[in-house]
Amino acid sequence: MKIKTILLPLAISLITPCTYAKNKAVQPANNIEYPIGLSNWRVIGTSIRNDNNTQRVILGNTIAIRAARSNMAKTNWPQGAILAKFVWKNESLATWPAATVPGKFVHAEIMVRDTKKYAATGGWGFARWKGEDLQPHGTDSRAADACFSCHQAAKETDFVFTRPAKLP
Ligand code: HEC
Repeated sequence: MKIKTILLPLAISLITPCTYAKNKAVQPANNIEYPIGLSNWRVIGTSIRNDNNTQRVILGNTIAIRAARSNMAKTNWPQGAILAKFVWKNESLATWPAATVPGKFVHAEIMVRDTKKYAATGGWGFARWKGEDLQPHGTDSRAADACFSCHQAAKETDFVFTRPAKLP
């Protein structure tokens, strides 16, 4: 009996990917869940912000990747697409100082495509989690207003700034 109660959770934790177990502890932001397995999503693009010394990767779930690898991404992101962005402070590589590499993790943020649910914010649900321990930034939909208002600058491209990086 006792061995079972120890062995069963252990067996489950061994077959469950770490990302899932870790994400269990992440609280939703703006009523949006932190996507399971986000750390394993594929790359759509990268960016560097010279004004605040950070670098970013833009990732997508399967639906977003399919769109990004075709022409769909140019005008119309499909329902269910999720775009994500990881941000790090820039750091110099100790072994090669001319190389700038990701240092301290700043935040993760996502845009979830659902034109009905998020009609008020351009058909995108916006959510952000701060720091390596992914603390939700804002707990209600008002937090998304600031995101949406800045993303107005990308109105012509469905409020998405990122153009998928060219791939060979
Ligand atoms: C002050 C302006 C500004 C605000 C506020 C802002 N963003 Fe952005 N966002 C940008 C810019 C510029 C980019 C593209 C460059 C980059 O990668 O940083 C971007 C990129 C993104 C991307 C990658 C997809 C895309 O549009 O290129 C996501 C996801 C994202 N933002 C989510 C959010 C969320 C969630 C919030 C609010 C919590 C937010 N943003 C607030 C300016 C902003």
